[in-house]
Amino acid sequence: MLKEIYQPNPDIVSNAAIRGMGEYWELQSRAKADYEGFWEGYANRKIEWFKPFDTVLDESNPPFYKWFSGGQLNVAHQCVDRHLATKKNKAAIIFEGDNGDYQILTYRRLSYEVNKTANMFKNMFGIKKGDRVVLYMPMIPEAAISMLACAKIGAIHSVVFGGFSAEALRDRIEDAQAKLVVTADGAFRKGKPYMLKPVVDKALEARCECVNAVCVVERNGEEIHWEPGRDYAYNELIKSQSHVCEAEPMESEDPLFLLYTSGSTGKPKGVQHATAGYILWAQMTMEWVFDLKDNDTYWCTADVGWITGHTYIVYGPLAAGATTIMFEGVPTYPDAGRCWRMIEEYQINQFYTAPTAIRLLHKMGADEPAKYDLSSLRVLGTVGEPIDPPAWKWYYEEVGHENCAIVDTWWQTETGGHMVSPLPGATAIKPACATFPLPGIMAEVIDEEGNPTPVGEKGFLCITKPWPSMIRNVWGDEDRYISSYFGDCKKEGKPVYFSGDGAMVDEGGYITITGRTDDVINVSGHRMGTAEVEAAIKKHDGVAAVAVVGKPHEIKGEGIFAYIVLKSDDGVADELETMKEINGIIKQEIGAIALCDDMAFVPDLPKTRSGKIMRRILRSIVKGEAITQDTSTLEDPSIVPTIEEIVNRKV
Ligand code: WT7
Repeated sequence: MLKEIYQPNPDIVSNAAIRGMGEYWELQSRAKADYEGFWEGYANRKIEWFKPFDTVLDESNPPFYKWFSGGQLNVAHQCVDRHLATKKNKAAIIFEGDNGDYQILTYRRLSYEVNKTANMFKNMFGIKKGDRVVLYMPMIPEAAISMLACAKIGAIHSVVFGGFSAEALRDRIEDAQAKLVVTADGAFRKGKPYMLKPVVDKALEARCECVNAVCVVERNGEEIHWEPGRDYAYNELIKSQSHVCEAEPMESEDPLFLLYTSGSTGKPKGVQHATAGYILWAQMTMEWVFDLKDNDTYWCTADVGWITGHTYIVYGPLAAGATTIMFEGVPTYPDAGRCWRMIEEYQINQFYTAPTAIRLLHKMGADEPAKYDLSSLRVLGTVGEPIDPPAWKWYYEEVGHENCAIVDTWWQTETGGHMVSPLPGATAIKPACATFPLPGIMAEVIDEEGNPTPVGEKGFLCITKPWPSMIRNVWGDEDRYISSYFGDCKKEGKPVYFSGDGAMVDEGGYITITGRTDDVINVSGHRMGTAEVEAAIKKHDGVAAVAVVGKPHEIKGEGIFAYIVLKSDDGVADELETMKEINGIIKQEIGAIALCDDMAFVPDLPKTRSGKIMRRILRSIVKGEAITQDTSTLEDPSIVPTIEEIVNRKV
């Protein structure tokens, strides 16, 4: 049984920034009373400005908010160069390879590499301020170095997760109109080499006329194709570059990066983040939520292809002058003790991972943590999806030895950094609960009209005031920015940011996230758009109609389940064969992360008379729940029991 409230050991967990809930409430009311003054203070203290800003927040053209206008700064300077005076020889990045090889980049070494890379981008590839650079990289230091090199010269990077297919990569390159792609031959996973460069080659076979060059880092040394005049060896070119590079002065609102993410409709959206607001909040949350101390070693297991990797492997930790671990491998190789062994070896103080990884490690080796010295740990974090109580309990007891704070951090690609999260050393923790909005963040659970939802009832999780690290636009699509985030909820008659998540507040004001209110599926903490998966499945010749929904999954949280209507009525000669074909297409169109766990071949989908698919019914069926929805509005209500029978036969 879990208790209601947990208070971590105060001898172990403290918070230098916010020492208790008293201070938390004080900060939050200060932010409410003088919102701009609150942010102005932090922006002045935390950022090393090249030129001070004139305005804190410009709300003259909602929802296109501007923060710290008039100010100039550079994120690579903020993350690397400004630390050289005091942390020259402190480890900035500790890289551990899949095979256990490791590399330590001190702040000086990082600055040296970033400058050389920035000069290479500028001199060899003509990259200028505002140009887009796609990074299709494994988890190696050159990924972080390339991100910072872009920031140094004012180029806008767009990191594409290495698990995405050539098609998906091509779409993102095209949408961003990238001039340069930086990649690697490949890397190592579970003791074996895997390849990335061939995927880039394939992506560039069609369209992508914007791309002038591909810069290839050597990591696994495998044979790759070299396209003359297009492909260049990073490791060769870098040698002749100067290690001195002026930081480009950037306006506060200049875009820092794009990161594509899925919604329930349409193609992935290029979430656009701005320079000053993003780096400010990345640094502040890093310090607040992880109780960061100067001598700490911090490890976030995410991939740089996701926002967590951006904010909490690269930008947040480095802006805060921390030591951040970058790990190429997987948590289960060579065995289920890999993470715990690394925690022991490096004496990790903060460990940040996804519930999926916790469930997997629990299942594969519940007793493994006990074999290692984990006493260095103070803060354990989770992110990306709701954590279930059994996983929370194991994490708290077996990994944290009931001493550590567990920070269940709620946020999104669009929010840039943490929004709702416990503060170690301050917040009394409720298991599997994101607890309170961070100071300065006006997160509220409301109905469409902005009324707070009653205690214990589900509402929409909205951020009712703009915040510095918020999304600025959907790249090249202002209408989509407005309709995706500011269309559903209002407060005092004005549109407010709606996250797409539902949540509940209890008597004590604790916020519990109840999950997406739209059709987005959360697979292993990654957002999968139903429309994208469906579009891929429709490319199969035999498919007439399809609807995908999330199905609860023991490890992944949710898996993808597809209801498929085939064109011919003959039934499926070989269901397994057809499923394989369909998954083959998904792998080609999106990547292995979007593969369906299961499919049901059904004669039709439950559609309203106007042709809208009733997904809620399909979700209920796959969960084995009783159908409570009114089916009388369906074109053919009898389809529901038919589908139920087909699905039940499968299990
Ligand atoms: C969606 C955002 C934030 C970085 C990783 C995912 C879900 C995120 C939590 C949490 C419950 C969570 C939400 C959110 N989510 N954190 N602590 N508890 N759900 O980023 O791909 O932008 O996905 O992840 O549904 O909307 P993302």
